[in-house]
Amino acid sequence: MHRWLFGYGSLIWRPDFAYLEQRPARLHGWSRRFWQGSHDHRGVPEQPGRVVTLMETVGSYCDGMAYLVDARTAETTFSDLDHREKNGYERHELELSFIEEPTSVVGLVYVARQDNHAFLGAAPLDEMADQIAACAGPSGRNSDYVFELAAALRRLDFDDPHVFELETAVRRRTTQIGGSSL
Ligand code: BEZ
Repeated sequence: MHRWLFGYGSLIWRPDFAYLEQRPARLHGWSRRFWQGSHDHRGVPEQPGRVVTLMETVGSYCDGMAYLVDARTAETTFSDLDHREKNGYERHELELSFIEEPTSVVGLVYVARQDNHAFLGAAPLDEMADQIAACAGPSGRNSDYVFELAAALRRLDFDDPHVFELETAVRRRTTQIGGSSL
């Protein structure tokens, strides 16, 4: 059986697996939050970065990209992603609505729940921005993760004040007068 996979973080701008098609999709009842610690991708154990997870939020929604994965490659694709996202994420089956058509499907979504060992939770915007501006890991700077996510959401015409406010706050910290980046 072909499977839908919903991306709301790096999978939006860097789906590094084969897929048959992609469609903008919405997850009702969830919001995207920079509340998950990353000590293996955008930080290190002594200085974990912050990456996105999903929080159940009545009346809210999270927009992202759904990918249809061929039945023949699904097992490898999901076990590779399980390995890559082993730092607290689990696969969940959730209902996705396609944004450009009135259809919904059940898709797989990686969620880092509050009870995982790397969960950081909410913090004031300035504190999160300080942390993100200071962190980097094997996958690159934590600030670039925020910038790439914000740019991808903008390209898709998705709004997400949590991401855009954080982007502005992190940019303030990483851009020197004269425009060069730290
Ligand atoms: C995503 O882009 O959907 C994603 C977020 C966290 C872990 C794995 C994937």
